[in-house]
Amino acid sequence: MLAAVRSAAVLGIEAYDVTVEVDVAAGLPAWTIVGLASGAVKEARERVTAAIANSGFALPSRRVTVNLSPADVRKDGTAFDLPIALGLLSATGQLDAAALDGLLVAGELGLDGSIRPIRGALPLARSAARSGVRALVLPEGNTAEAMLVTSARLATAPTLRALVDALRAGALPPAVSPPVRSGTPPDALDFADVIGQPVAKRALEIAAAGSHNVLLVGPPGAGKTMLARRLPGILPALDEAALLEVVAVHSVGGLLPPGTYPSRTPPFRAPHHTISMAGLIGGGPGPRPGEVSLAHRGVLFLDEMLELPRHVLDAMRQPLEDGRVVIARAAQAVAYPARFQLIGACNPCPCGKSGDPNAICSCSAADIERYGARLSGPLADRIDLHAHVGAVALSALGAVNTEERSESVRARVEAARERQRARYASLTGTQTNADVPGRWLLAHGGITTSARLVLEQAADRLHLSARGYHRALRVARTIADLDGADDVPDAAVAEALRFRNRGAA
Ligand SMILES: Nc1ncnc2c1ncn2[C@@H]1O[C@H](COP(=O)(O)OP(=O)(O)OP(=O)(O)O)[C@@H](O)[C@H]1O
Ligand SMILES: [Mg+2]
Ligand SMILES: [Zn+2]
Repeated sequence: MLAAVRSAAVLGIEAYDVTVEVDVAAGLPAWTIVGLASGAVKEARERVTAAIANSGFALPSRRVTVNLSPADVRKDGTAFDLPIALGLLSATGQLDAAALDGLLVAGELGLDGSIRPIRGALPLARSAARSGVRALVLPEGNTAEAMLVTSARLATAPTLRALVDALRAGALPPAVSPPVRSGTPPDALDFADVIGQPVAKRALEIAAAGSHNVLLVGPPGAGKTMLARRLPGILPALDEAALLEVVAVHSVGGLLPPGTYPSRTPPFRAPHHTISMAGLIGGGPGPRPGEVSLAHRGVLFLDEMLELPRHVLDAMRQPLEDGRVVIARAAQAVAYPARFQLIGACNPCPCGKSGDPNAICSCSAADIERYGARLSGPLADRIDLHAHVGAVALSALGAVNTEERSESVRARVEAARERQRARYASLTGTQTNADVPGRWLLAHGGITTSARLVLEQAADRLHLSARGYHRALRVARTIADLDGADDVPDAAVAEALRFRNRGAA
């Protein structure tokens, strides 16, 4: 007997339809899975047979053939376990085929028959909503993310037994709606903890307001790590569209722990500098999104950035420019979104003391040059704000704390973002000043003739590239947005250029 169950697989962050056909025929007991299945899919046999037996259903001692179609796309992961099991129960007459009509099913099975969470449930929910299925059957651990797609009809059950019992009774056990966590996490670190460092704080405020990239350079113990970790506390919460994008990538990356509700806090990823190329950019078997994609619509913090091998750093150039990563594979290329904000921190030289008036740097000129060269010109060009973080006077640390709290900085950032939202409302793909095409900004962004003149003169003097020119313009636009100004004044351009000019700020 033949049964067919509708399922789906994920490529990048998009799902495509897969039909799981199960045929049970006379012959010696044997299992075959065909249709470009990976090792994880082939292991479904062990999980499915154990789950069926341990759920009190009968196992056929006949020949079982599972076909995943279309057969020309590679299938990976464990999400076909549940559709295979349902197909097998239907093909052996233990479940009416009509009960499976119009369902899209995905889920991993435990040997005990429990239904376990899968990666990529949100893309599945999107695809199910688009193609209008009767219901999408998902593991309980995945329903919180899938519910972000409000038009998808969801059903869930804790075990294979419970699901089949419900289907036999003609029922679809509904999923219960969870709330979406909102706002800034209560444990967000506060900028008021950082004494002094007005230049670095200003750079981070501008960066937060316009989604620009920042590099904090300074001696050990100056507070670079402290400052960078406080950036999330001044970022606005994700809007509806960004939340869906972020959850989709995290879902595919297997980063949503079951039972936790998607949060509106922008992602903050801080990988160690020993991270591999695949870990940072994405790839590997599967493949999986890398840190640049997990930081999509949020922050990628690279502490001790110059400790990363140069070829790994340089691999970020493409995503920094395009906002996405394309991973070439033998069968087909996979794309992940990667519109992140880069925050780097590094020392100015190997000993860390170069440029510090109160310390003696023990590095040779050649050492310092080699160290600086770890950051390639093209990558440095993509960093909008270079801020020097000097050592703070120890006497300042004991004084009464009069530093501004993150909450009031965030209010300014949110107001600046609101201005950007209004300005770019009709410009698809542009949300912040960091995304706006340079030509558009020059024509419609309130750049006065005199501000343009200041920029053009400086461009010659500082040997700005065309990219550097447009990037400085975007930062100037953000500075004006923080001031609530419609036009970009000369002073905003001058400040943007000071931050661009390496070491000068
Ligand atoms: N500006 C500051 N205000 C308050 N505390 C500070 C400041 N700068 C440094 N500190 C203290 O010093 C510690 C080290 O700071 P942090 O780790 O941010 O330095 P860093 O610049 O990242 O150094 P490294 O280059 O060694 O990584 C902090 O945990 C904090 O206790
Ligand atoms: Mg540090
Ligand atoms: Zn040194």
